[in-house]
Formats: sequence, C-alpha cells, structure tokens
Amino acid sequence: MNTKDNRQDDFADPSTGSGRVHTADSTGSPQAGGGHALRRRAEDTAREKAAQMPENMESLSPEAAWQLLHELRVYQIELEIQNEELRRAQAELEVSRARYFDLYHLAPVGYVTLSEKGLILEANLMATVLLGMARSALFKQPLFRFILPEDQDLYHRHRKLLFETRAPQVSEMRMLRADAAPFWARLEATTAQDGESGAPVCRTVVSDITERKRAEEKLQESLEQLRRAVETTIQVLVLAVETKDPYTAGHQKRTTNLARAMATEMGLPPEMVEGIRMAGVIHDIGKIGLPTEILSKPTKLSAIEYSLIKEHARQGYEILKDVESPWPLAEMVYQHHERINGSGYPRGLKGEEILVEARILAVADIVEAIASHRPYRPSLGMDAALEEIEKNRGILYDPAAVEPCLRLIREKRFQLDVDAYPIDKKLLSDGNAAFFKTH
Ligand SMILES: [Fe+2]
Repeated sequence: MNTKDNRQDDFADPSTGSGRVHTADSTGSPQAGGGHALRRRAEDTAREKAAQMPENMESLSPEAAWQLLHELRVYQIELEIQNEELRRAQAELEVSRARYFDLYHLAPVGYVTLSEKGLILEANLMATVLLGMARSALFKQPLFRFILPEDQDLYHRHRKLLFETRAPQVSEMRMLRADAAPFWARLEATTAQDGESGAPVCRTVVSDITERKRAEEKLQESLEQLRRAVETTIQVLVLAVETKDPYTAGHQKRTTNLARAMATEMGLPPEMVEGIRMAGVIHDIGKIGLPTEILSKPTKLSAIEYSLIKEHARQGYEILKDVESPWPLAEMVYQHHERINGSGYPRGLKGEEILVEARILAVADIVEAIASHRPYRPSLGMDAALEEIEKNRGILYDPAAVEPCLRLIREKRFQLDVDAYPIDKKLLSDGNAAFFKTH
C-alpha cells in the first residue's frame, strides 16, 4: 500500500480519527513550550512600552525622542531574536514530528494499544496494514475479532495472564485481516498505564510471521520426507539381517525396546528417542558380512574370530555413513561397544567422547545379551544382567544410563521378551550353557 497516501488521509490532521492520536507536541519538545513563553514576553513588553508613551508626541524633546527611537530599535532587535527562536523551535518540532512518524507509524511491526477489555485504543500505520482496516475504524474494535476462532482461547488466556501477572506475554497465533485473509502473527504484549486516565492498558507488538511459518512448515515437510526415507532404508537393512541372521535381528529389536524405554525414562526429547530407535534396530548391521558359523559358534572364539566380530562396529559405520539422516545413526552404531573408561572398541573412546545415544545403546545391548537366550546357551538371567551394569556403573557404563535401566526393570517391571528366540536344546546338552559371550 502507499504509505504516503495513508499518511495524508489518516495522519495529517491529528484531531481526526480516534481523537487519541499522538502528535509531536506530546513528545514533550521543550522548544514548543519555550515559543509560547517568548510570545507572551514580547506581548507584555509591547503593552508596557505603549503605557509609557507620552500622549502628545510633539511635546517630546529631541533627547527624549532619540531615547524612544533607540528603545524601539532595541525592542525590534529583541523581537527579531525571539522570532528567530520561534522559527527554530518550529523547525525542531517538525523534525521531532517526522521522527515520531517514522518510529511509530512506519515501524515494520504493528503497534496496538488495548484497553483492559481488549479494545483497540491506538494503532500505528503497520497495524492498519496488517489488520486491513483504516485507523479511525479500528478505534474501540476488540482485537480478538481479528483472531482466527480456533486461536481465540489462546489469545484470551494470554491476555488474562498478562493482566494477572503483569509479566510480558509472547504468543503466536493465526489472525484474519478485515477482508478475511489469514496470516500468522506473533504478539508480544506488555502492560502499561494510560497517560491520561491512569487505567491499565496493554501495549501489543504485532508481527507478521507468515513467511517464517511457511519456511518452518517446508523444513518440517523435508525433515518428514527424510525421516520416511531413512525409515525405509533402515527397514531394508532390518529385513536383510532377519534373512541372514534371525538371532541378531531379535537381539536388535529387544535392545531397541529397552534403549527407547531408558531414553524416555531419562526425559530425552522425542526426536532423540526416535534416533535411538532407528540406530538400535540396526546397531549390529556390521555383522551381516560375517559367516553365521562364527556368529553362533557354541565354543570359545579364537583370537582371529573375536577380532572379526569386533570389526562389526566399524563395518556398521561404513554401511551407514552415507545415509542422509536427521540423526547421527552411523556414529551411534560405530560407538555402541565403546566403554566410558576407554576400554571399549573399536576406537577406545572415553566418557563424553561417546554420544549419549551410544552410551544408552551400550547398556541396553549388554543387558539384552546377558538376559536373553542365545543359540548356544540359555539366558543367564536378568539378575546377572543387572548385576553386570550395577557393578560396572561409572567404570564401563554411564551411570546416567544405568540408573534408568535398573529403575525400569526393578521398579517399573519393564520386561525384555527374552524368549523370542528358540533355544537349541542340542547345543545346551553339549555343556555350553554357561558360556558367557556378549558379542
Ligand atoms: Fe554389537
């Protein structure tokens, strides 16, 4: 819109419209008051001089006439100085008025002053543009009529809170222009006192945040698409593991269930819990290249076999490192066998060097490995699993992950589905039942 035109229509005459229009006089220019005083002083002097004039000018002596002329000249100079001061005061007033217009009316945000009942008492030019209504027509309109009905509860709640607590309130809501065109707005409200009546008023800054909201929605959509793409990739990898090694697939699922419950118990944000879920269900994906004979070997592993097994963390990282994802999935998988004292593998990371998610996965992984049946041995029992993490809390395992795990299983009756994988009775009878292996 043409702000110049509006300036002419709505703002040129401060006495029109709401009758509450600010003028530069109200900015408290000292020159304005000084100008009136000068004028008064000049008028008083003129009256004084007139009273001193003799009735018959012809009776004046040449000296007296000369004296009078001199005084008149001095008086004229004084008047000229006063006149100059008045002109300067007028010019400063104009500058002040223009600055006020720029700062208040041409501000890039809407300023609205509301009564305690929420009626518009004042509005700047941008507010009229945002609300699509002339300034004079806005006077005494309730602001809530410009708010989408679905968001009016939010608006009323914030306004109530503002006057109850006197604490500034910020809210984002959908508004409607007078022509019903919707826009997203950010309202920042503070309380103040009306300059004339002293009544409490609410000063609200209204900003159009439609563009930002659109950008956020687009970003959210892209993130959602990326999440779906990652989910599909993960599902494909899970299927590949299930086909090759059903035991590992079951272990990953149970580890994930526990790790998610732990992360939720720790109060981590849902986004982070979702990342743990994604990484959890494929944390042993690096084993996909290993021969099944090694993975389910019922006897003790040779040094070479064990080093091959240990490679699965790095292999998993290699498989996942190029998957574009909102979460550091490849790193979580890379780090799930690290221990906080640096004794883990493959990189021997310590404490904070290990991602929080990986520290959670590490605890869930070990608990599942000990408590579940293995192809070559029965479960060693949940008590043994909890004893392991309790004993090594703060040494191998992050206490921040151990505590919620203990609480979940001991107090909140969280259950691992440890019978999900059928035990091979033949292997058990071979005397391997007590063999403790947590790879
Ligand atoms: Fe693993």
